[in-house]
Amino acid sequence: MNRDIVVVGAGIVGCAIAYELARRGASVEIVDERHPVGMGATQASAGVLAPYIEGREGNPLLPLAVRSLDLFDDFMTRVSTASGVDVPYRRTGTIDIATNDSEMRSLQTTADVLARRGVRATIIDRAAAYGEEPQLADGVVGALVIDTHGFVVAGELTRALSIAARRHGAQLIEQSRVRRIVRAHTEIIVETDRGSLSGSAVVLAAGSWSGTIDVEGLASRVPVRPVRGQLLQLTWNEPLLKRVTWSRRCYLVPWQDGSLLVGATVEDAGFDERATVAGVRDLLDAACDVIPQTWTAGFRAARVGLRPGTPDDMPIIGPSPSVPGLMYATGHYRNGVLLAPLTAQLVADAMLDNRIDPMLAAVSPARFGL
Ligand code: GLY
Repeated sequence: MNRDIVVVGAGIVGCAIAYELARRGASVEIVDERHPVGMGATQASAGVLAPYIEGREGNPLLPLAVRSLDLFDDFMTRVSTASGVDVPYRRTGTIDIATNDSEMRSLQTTADVLARRGVRATIIDRAAAYGEEPQLADGVVGALVIDTHGFVVAGELTRALSIAARRHGAQLIEQSRVRRIVRAHTEIIVETDRGSLSGSAVVLAAGSWSGTIDVEGLASRVPVRPVRGQLLQLTWNEPLLKRVTWSRRCYLVPWQDGSLLVGATVEDAGFDERATVAGVRDLLDAACDVIPQTWTAGFRAARVGLRPGTPDDMPIIGPSPSVPGLMYATGHYRNGVLLAPLTAQLVADAMLDNRIDPMLAAVSPARFGL
């Protein structure tokens, strides 16, 4: 059994894994280049929990996403209790709006498929859509409401996870960039620019940066690529939107503190983490087209994150078949927050109890020869 474990990456996935491992009795070190935790893709996440929008039927991600959403209530209670942090988490549901007949037909198809799966998903007409959300712009022809969806404030959740992990004895090592992972006899060494760490096992959870780390003995690097997402944080003086509101061009997330988040661009810009005029303008235009009162909102921030995309858009989770003691938990692309509870559980089951969940077959590192 693995007992001394180094987790590379202090984003939401790394912190969730560190917390789960530490809570089950492992001795854990988390290492990251940045400070504080969650300063990669996590800080630019809107924390939307919406598997039936993000992973529609036929998408192999859906079973994982749905299973992880089912874990969320218990996970949040546990993390809040263990950390003492009251993390904002709401199951507001989503309202996915259509502005023409073709969009409406597509929502109807989704609703039919979800009904066959036993998921409550309700198609509403134009009048009911304005009843649900009176601030919607003219031109809405109908909408799909899915009650089980919601959102969590991802930065706060990551902070809470790191506190909970530390309360269970985990150590956080910041401002140390991991360069190489090397196998040495029974140990595995993590070389950073400020010295080396060692353990009986390592979890590679460095998101978009996972592919920049050399793993000795592996010819290929982890095939993650950064996919830039820009997200706006507005100050909202109007009545809060009731639900996470989704259009073809943006989504809107109503935080209780009076912020409205507007997400998100999807861009291929390498490791460039700057906000751009084009990104901000597109998102503002899209938000104003859905909710015209956005014109009167205050502008608080543009956040930028690099989602870790993979060649098949599926995460890479599971033990390396070629490097003993190396566990992958990366490539979560658009769903790191949603998949964090399940990823942590499956990784801890595999590392501490030698239990390989059947769901890991779809996300195995072996498919990329790792
Ligand atoms: N999960 C939302 C996004 O990546 O934009």
